[in-house]
Amino acid sequence: MAISTTFFSLLSIIFFSIFSSLTLAEDSHFFHKTISPKLLDLHKEKLSRLHFYFHDIVSGPNPTAVNVAQAQMTKTSPTAFGSVIMADDPLTSGPEPDSKLVGKAQGIYAFAAQDEVGLLMVMNFAFTEGKYNGSTLSVLGRNTVFSAVREITIVGGSGLFRFARGYAKAKTHTFDLKTGNAVVEYNVYVFHY
Ligand SMILES: *[C@@H]1O[C@H](CO)[C@@H](O)[C@H](O)[C@H]1NC(C)=O
Repeated sequence: MAISTTFFSLLSIIFFSIFSSLTLAEDSHFFHKTISPKLLDLHKEKLSRLHFYFHDIVSGPNPTAVNVAQAQMTKTSPTAFGSVIMADDPLTSGPEPDSKLVGKAQGIYAFAAQDEVGLLMVMNFAFTEGKYNGSTLSVLGRNTVFSAVREITIVGGSGLFRFARGYAKAKTHTFDLKTGNAVVEYNVYVFHY
């Protein structure tokens, strides 16, 4: 009798310590631990190229980019320094405005340079096409819009683009001096899983 009681208490101690170490692993109070990439289903990193056209429509009845702030001196600045634009610009597979929509460029571009037209771009490319629907790429880069080709940094992503990093090559396809509307060709190169 005494032996079996001892045995059971020993068993329960063993069981309890295994159980509590399991619950410790799930403890919501832990701050840091190293985990295996496999736990997040991360296997092999790959390199993707995306190609699309960015439509920046600033005038007409349905603008997709609007001025939300500017400085007093922006009016007299030859480079529009200080102007801040909020955009929800269509991204399409071809240069025509009615070509297939693949996503939207949502965020801010601001005129951040005084000696040339140089934009600070802080935005997300929110994709809606096929398996990329719901995935995003985050842009934090510099865009000197009158340069032939601009390299813009991709700093991260979500969904299929988790852990993304890379760059976009932006090349103006058309720029209408009268309306200010622009179509820009984007070639994006990103590493992701
Ligand atoms: C993308 O996903 C949303 C929400 O899940 C869905 O409503 C929409 O129809 C999808 N779009 C395409 C083009 O598949």
